[in-house]
Formats: sequence, structure tokens, C-alpha cells
Amino acid sequence: MLSVKSLMTAVAVTALLMPASSYAGGTVEVLHWWTSGGEAKAVGTLKEAFEKKGGTWIDSPIAGGGGDAAMTALRARVMAGNPPAAVQLKGPGIQEWADQGSLNDVEDVAKAENWDSVLPPSLASIMKYKDKYVAAPVNIHRVDWMWVNPTVLAKVGAEVPTTWEEFNAVADKLKAAGITPLAHGGQPWQDATVFETIVLSQGADFYRKALVELDQDALSGETMVKVFDQLRKLRGYVDPGFSGRDWNLATAMVMNGEAAFQIMGDWAKGEFLAAGKVPGKDFLCAPTPGNGYIFNADSFAFFKVSGEDQVEGQKVLASLIMSPEFQETFNLAKGSIPARTDVGLDKFDSCALKSHEDLTASVKNNAFVPSMAHEMAIPRTVRGEFLDVVTNFFNSDMSSADAAKALGEAVKRAQ
Ligand code: BGC
Repeated sequence: MLSVKSLMTAVAVTALLMPASSYAGGTVEVLHWWTSGGEAKAVGTLKEAFEKKGGTWIDSPIAGGGGDAAMTALRARVMAGNPPAAVQLKGPGIQEWADQGSLNDVEDVAKAENWDSVLPPSLASIMKYKDKYVAAPVNIHRVDWMWVNPTVLAKVGAEVPTTWEEFNAVADKLKAAGITPLAHGGQPWQDATVFETIVLSQGADFYRKALVELDQDALSGETMVKVFDQLRKLRGYVDPGFSGRDWNLATAMVMNGEAAFQIMGDWAKGEFLAAGKVPGKDFLCAPTPGNGYIFNADSFAFFKVSGEDQVEGQKVLASLIMSPEFQETFNLAKGSIPARTDVGLDKFDSCALKSHEDLTASVKNNAFVPSMAHEMAIPRTVRGEFLDVVTNFFNSDMSSADAAKALGEAVKRAQ
């Protein structure tokens, strides 16, 4: 699991000057799930930079937020013996594919460019298999955010809430005024995203026990029952059309004033920005109640492909992803902050600065935790059990006590 201590060391890493990359050319097929407006803009910057280096980019986008459909497509491609050269992949998934012998390493690029000195060690260790880099990180997304339409909030004279009690009070007012309080897309990964922010509000220690260490008492105890109680409350604040809705359509509801809040990672900010909206004016970002930081880092892993052209393409892409210029350009569009610790944030907006500030504080306070919903914390199979229970709860009248019990049992079965 992630060592928060080592990340602390990393935040203090001094900037190093990097020689300009000597890699150029090659061909890569890139499998990713960045298909919303903001996401497409962000991945477009990578394609453009790769082509500028003389490379050939074969785009393989698989629609479906959160990447579940992309991972199904990936499995089919690997089984057919025809993997794409680069795949948007993260967390323990990287280790799982490496364990199966499916990944190429890009260690020569990483060594030449000294990646170890510019990445937080805990993030670097996710990218490595047997001490060699098999993936390159592009960013750090924060999951525990609320996206707020200030005009809608003003209609009921409300402030941005800082506790769930306050949130519920504001949501009740909005509902009474005929306004949808919470824009939500009823897909399992979105339900799990909201769920894990409520888990964090019960403390980072509880979060870690339940969603990282999979401790049975935490999974099925009283605190988890409270978490489900709040999730039940939120269920009452979504509109009747929530089922199956894509996350970016929920973001659009906040943007258009159809709803007041969305609880979503900062890829939602990419949507606001792509629509020309200004943070602090047209929309607000505020952490969900509680103290902590749920992180979700996107990265590309390099699959075993043959032929010089493709292997060269992997090296060019790896070098490009880790270049300071790319990390700046990409993250300005994506809504996240750079994975490299030495990229200046002068061009970034107030939400990104808040993310960086809270990241640093949460590392110090031991409240920096990996996302379960976004595959940073636990193996896919166990995550699947969480998603099933949380979604069943959200779409039924199951009691909170039954849900907590079911969660403990499901996780036990999957282990
Ligand atoms: C990814 C983001 C992506 C989001 C919605 C998350 O799991 O980390 O990069 O924007 O899913 O598709």
C-alpha cells in the first residue's frame, strides 16, 4: 500500500533541471476513456505533442466514465494477443498486469530523465514493478470535491456547507424551493465516488481501515451504518432522472443551474473550463465535509508490443508524459494538478491551488488516502464488491444496517 511518509519526503524534493528529451518518432495505439468535453481536450494535448515529435498516434477511446468499460476492452485485447501500446491504467491494476508479464518497462527513459527525483516516492512506487518503471503518471486528481452553482445557492440564501448537517439543511431548502439539490449520475462508480467521500468525513483513519485495510469491524460497524445513513439522505436529493446518467451530464446540470451541487473529482472542473466557465465566479469548488484528501492519479502503462516502431513510440510517449511542459498543459485542461513535484502552479486556478495546499496538509496530517472508487486502493475484484453493495443500497430501500452487514460479507467473500 502507499507510504504516506515517503510522499512527505517527496513533497520536499527540490526541483531539478531536466535535459530536453532526445526521443522522437514511433507509433502508439493509446487506449483511454477520456471522451467527455474536458477530457477530450486534455488528451488532445498529448496527441498533439506526440505528433509534433514525429510520432503516429492511433486513438482508441472507450466511452464510459471511471474506466470500467475501458478495462473490459483491455482484457479482451490482451486475451486476443493484441494489446494496445499504451493504456490508461492505475493503482494496483498496474501491478496486476505487470505480474502477468503483460508490461514493457521504460526504465531507460526514467533513468536518463531522473524520474525518481521529481515524483513523490509513493506515486513512483505505483508506477514501478520490480524496481523498473512500467507506467508514467500524468496527474493527481482529488476526488472529495463539491461543485457548486453559486447563483442557485443564492436563490435560497444559502452558503456552501462544511458539514453534512449543513449540507442536508441547504438541500432541504433547495428541495422546498423546487430546485434539485444534487446532480448525480446513477452509475456504480459514481455512487461509489459519493460513498467514499462520506467515508472520509468519518476520519482518514476510518477511511483507511475500511477502504484500504478492509477491516471487518470498520466495514460493518456503527460508523459505516452512519455513512449509509448519509448516503440515504443524498439519495433523497437527486432528481428522478439520475439513473444511468453520465457524470458530465450531471456536471452540465450544475453548470446550467438545473441543480446546485455535484459531488465528483476535479475532472468535473475540466468540463466547466471547457465550457468557458470561471472558477470562483460561475462555479465554486469546495471540499466535501471532513478533513482529508482522496487522491486518484492517472497514468499510462506500456503493454508488451513488438517491433521497433512501437517500442520507440512507447519511449517517446513516456518521455513526453513526464516532461514539465506537458504536465502543465495537460493538467490545466484536465482539472488536476501535475504529478511532478517541480512544476510551478502560477498558471493554475484557485481550485488547483486549494487541491495542492490540502494535499500538502493532508500528507502532514496523515489524511492523504487513495481512492477506492477510482482503483487506487484495492484490487478490482474487491472494488467490484463495494460497487455492488453501494449501488444496490442506492437503488433500493435497504436499511443502513443491512448494507453495512452486506459490505462486510461481500468483502470477506472476495478476499
Ligand atoms: C479518471 C479521470 C476521469 C474520470 C471520469 C477517473 O477514474 O481518473 O481521469 O476523468 O474517471 O471519466
